[in-house]
Amino acid sequence: MKGRHGEEGPIRRWAGGPAGDETILLDMHVHSTCSRDSLIPVKVILKTWETLGILSVICDHNTTHGSELLAREMHIRGSDIPVIIAEEILTLQGEIIGLFLSEEIPPYLTAAETLDRIHDQGALSLVPHPFCTFRTTSLGRSGLDRLNGRIDLVEGYNSRVLREHENLLARAYAMEKGKPITAGSDAHTKAELGRTWLAVPPFGSPREFLRSLPEARVYFRPAGLEARPVAPW
Ligand SMILES: [Fe+2]
Repeated sequence: MKGRHGEEGPIRRWAGGPAGDETILLDMHVHSTCSRDSLIPVKVILKTWETLGILSVICDHNTTHGSELLAREMHIRGSDIPVIIAEEILTLQGEIIGLFLSEEIPPYLTAAETLDRIHDQGALSLVPHPFCTFRTTSLGRSGLDRLNGRIDLVEGYNSRVLREHENLLARAYAMEKGKPITAGSDAHTKAELGRTWLAVPPFGSPREFLRSLPEARVYFRPAGLEARPVAPW
């Protein structure tokens, strides 16, 4: 994955760039108001897509409702962009994101049981902010090691990770274990939307998405401190 920090990258809308350019820009970690700690209505997330061409993957806490709402609104507008149904699930060992879910997964199961339920659906597992020490919900090195063979993706860039070396640790871990990485703003406020994204070619299935990630281009900016009073994590 090609990373870039702190400089404006070319933003092209899906199928809206030069002929043949069908790149999709995805912010892989966003919270809507379906998460009780977020201030971002789905309609604002939709507006970000319409104005910036950056599509959010809504990973609300313990619910798929936000991403389902976004998928419905995109469908109403005649869009054929693949909206990823996702959920950031609190397990007994820490948070795990399910991507491409067809069924919501309840919180407070073990991480192993949660991974079973994700994979039973043919969905993908993503470990968000694994080395963030500011939160109590990160899996950490020991959690990652215990589950390693069953983790599909590692979040290598999270804009709300306060200490940049903790994002570096996540990328180093992913490289060591041969896991593709993702990038997300973890936005809880409108101002955080569009700060971080990755560019991937169109995909039609979780496996296609997984295969495209090693070549994805990533644009990353840390969240400002002004975002903290809303949700500190
Ligand atoms: Fe999150």
